[in-house]
Amino acid sequence: MPNKHNLKKSANTMSNNDRKPLISGNWKMHMNHFEAIQMVQKLFYDLPLPVYDRIDVSIHPPFTSLRSLQTVFEVDHMPIALGAQNCHNEDSGAFTGEISPLMLAKLNVAYVIVGHSERRQLLGETDRQVNAKVHAVLKHGMTPIVCVGETLEQRQAGSAATVVSTQITNSLKEVTAAQVSDLIIAYEPVWAIGTGKTATPADAQAMCAHIRSQMESKWGNTAAQSLRIQYGGSVKASNIAELMVKNDIDGTLVGGASLKVEDFAPIVNHFS
Ligand code: PGA
Repeated sequence: MPNKHNLKKSANTMSNNDRKPLISGNWKMHMNHFEAIQMVQKLFYDLPLPVYDRIDVSIHPPFTSLRSLQTVFEVDHMPIALGAQNCHNEDSGAFTGEISPLMLAKLNVAYVIVGHSERRQLLGETDRQVNAKVHAVLKHGMTPIVCVGETLEQRQAGSAATVVSTQITNSLKEVTAAQVSDLIIAYEPVWAIGTGKTATPADAQAMCAHIRSQMESKWGNTAAQSLRIQYGGSVKASNIAELMVKNDIDGTLVGGASLKVEDFAPIVNHFS
């Protein structure tokens, strides 16, 4: 996967200058497949090609648009990775309304968001389910983007770091160091999602550094320095620069600002 080149360098000296940033657009339940095609075509023609050498970009549309976007990316040779927003942990079975990771892999999906706080909060998804999904995604050669983050009450009670650590421990059970190296963790404080409130770059960095050091103590320095940590929560063109200068922030998971080319292109263009 894209950040493998990092390992040439001694792991304990790496920074986010060595990890290839990943900017992901999480479209949530927005856009039909016609709108999705229009959006990626506009986005592609708006951005200079060399930007894709510097960063990875993934788009996570609703399931109904995956096949359309896969076709557009292939036919138009767009170096944009296809992403999904969720999947079931089983390959197949009597699970009405669910989508199998095997089906996603067949569509050339590269990244799958797992454990997004909206799924945890609105649909009762647990760390245990997230863990099963992480394994399912990995088994089919895709990369999980594992979302963690505290609520406002938890932050105010001073338990943000403990909450995030517990989510990581439980969501990543039985994952190997080699798998961790290629993993994406998205730190998304729940109170910053869709609210216009962004964590300060210093707070976001502090939590991302905390996550990396937790990963290091469990999986070792090489894996912890190689994995990429995204920040998510009201990311926009006006705050991408101050987030990306932080050492442990390796990209962003973008919701609202990924829905319009005028908002998303400048975020990606930050890297050109
Ligand atoms: P937001 O969403 O950028 O609209 O805050 C981020 C997310 O939910 O991943």
